[in-house]
Amino acid sequence: MSESVANRAVVFYNNKSLPTILSEELNLDTCYSSSEVVIKVHAAALNPVDFLLQGLAYSWLSGRGPKCFSRDYSGEVVKVGANVTDYKVGDKVAGMFKHLYGKQGTLCDYLILDPVKQPAITKIANAEHTEYDDYVVNASWPLVFGTAYQGLTNYGQKLGPNSKILVIGASTSVSNALVQIAKNHLKVGTVVGICSKNSFDYNKKLGYDYLAAYDEGSVVNNVKEIMKKNLNNEKFDLIFDSVGNSDFFGCINDVLKHKSHNSQYVSVAGDKKLNYSNPRMWDSLPGLESLKRYGPFRKYNYNLFLLQSDSAYMKLGHKMISEKQYMPAIDSVYNFDDYAEAFKRINSNRSKGKVVIQIN
Ligand SMILES: NC(=O)c1ccc[n+]([C@@H]2O[C@H](COP(=O)([O-])OP(=O)(O)OC[C@H]3O[C@@H](n4cnc5c(N)ncnc54)[C@H](OP(=O)(O)O)[C@@H]3O)[C@@H](O)[C@H]2O)c1
Repeated sequence: MSESVANRAVVFYNNKSLPTILSEELNLDTCYSSSEVVIKVHAAALNPVDFLLQGLAYSWLSGRGPKCFSRDYSGEVVKVGANVTDYKVGDKVAGMFKHLYGKQGTLCDYLILDPVKQPAITKIANAEHTEYDDYVVNASWPLVFGTAYQGLTNYGQKLGPNSKILVIGASTSVSNALVQIAKNHLKVGTVVGICSKNSFDYNKKLGYDYLAAYDEGSVVNNVKEIMKKNLNNEKFDLIFDSVGNSDFFGCINDVLKHKSHNSQYVSVAGDKKLNYSNPRMWDSLPGLESLKRYGPFRKYNYNLFLLQSDSAYMKLGHKMISEKQYMPAIDSVYNFDDYAEAFKRINSNRSKGKVVIQIN
């Protein structure tokens, strides 16, 4: 007799429709191919990108069908295709499932994927030293850790004890991973963060050497003051923006080393801070500043990137958590049925760490 289960998923249809639970029958014996595994999802984490994409989901762009939320997941392998060699039934796994407006996301009961095509997957790391269960911790980190890792390493940077990094958005989950990788893995000498004055204590504990407020005086002057007082006026090797900021472009040569030193301005959020729950398409289009970044007009090395699915950062994240070198920040944990509360929390833009939803 074939094994049929209910597969619930939190979905949206377009940027006008409210998220809702869609429940469909899934035949666990026939729903996967020889190269796929079926994962019973235990936890999924939310990311601002889910809501940006929902806000931009015009039917002409994204289609009319259901689109499931979330990319991060943790869970247990319950079925394995005949050609899968690295995973077996009972394995506890976590990862980042890459999709764009997919009917399948990770805020659902069952996830079917090919581990070769979705290589951001690993066995879950033991996080017993934390207050959260392993599934919650392991659903919380793949996307933000991967983004931070790729921002630190994608552009030939050789960061180490003599390097200086300026982080715009020190309190974001991406930067939370970034400062821990920079300090504990790459042994970067100096990391300066920009955050709200209220978040100074929170961020100091994570390893930032100096903090500048964005909500008290001029943020550019606050950073320059730190450079003068504490950095011998030396400039940064990397400016990493996880907010969407343009404050430093007008004085980029005062803060970022010359491009010939392979200094980089790396952004994961563009030049403008978008409203997660009500994004406007034109806010994400390149402005005049982009003329200084390309071709003969290039004044500094600039990269805006989207996380790519890869096993390298999953291996490192697993190792760092197991060795207590990286602890993902978790803001709050919700039950599946309370997904609307969880959505509200992440869209407040005030969460300190990941918003995680427990599913099974
Ligand atoms: N390109 C990619 O592949 C990629 C991947 C992941 C994420 N992202 C993007 O990266 C950004 C961060 O994502 P996340 O999940 O890490 O964010 P998050 O954890 O939701 O960030 C929340 C934090 O942002 C801080 N913040 C709010 N307004 C700020 C401002 N004006 N300046 C500085 N900090 C501010 C707040 O701390 P304070 O107390 O300091 O204000 C708050 O705690 C999002 O735009 C996301 O879409 C891109």
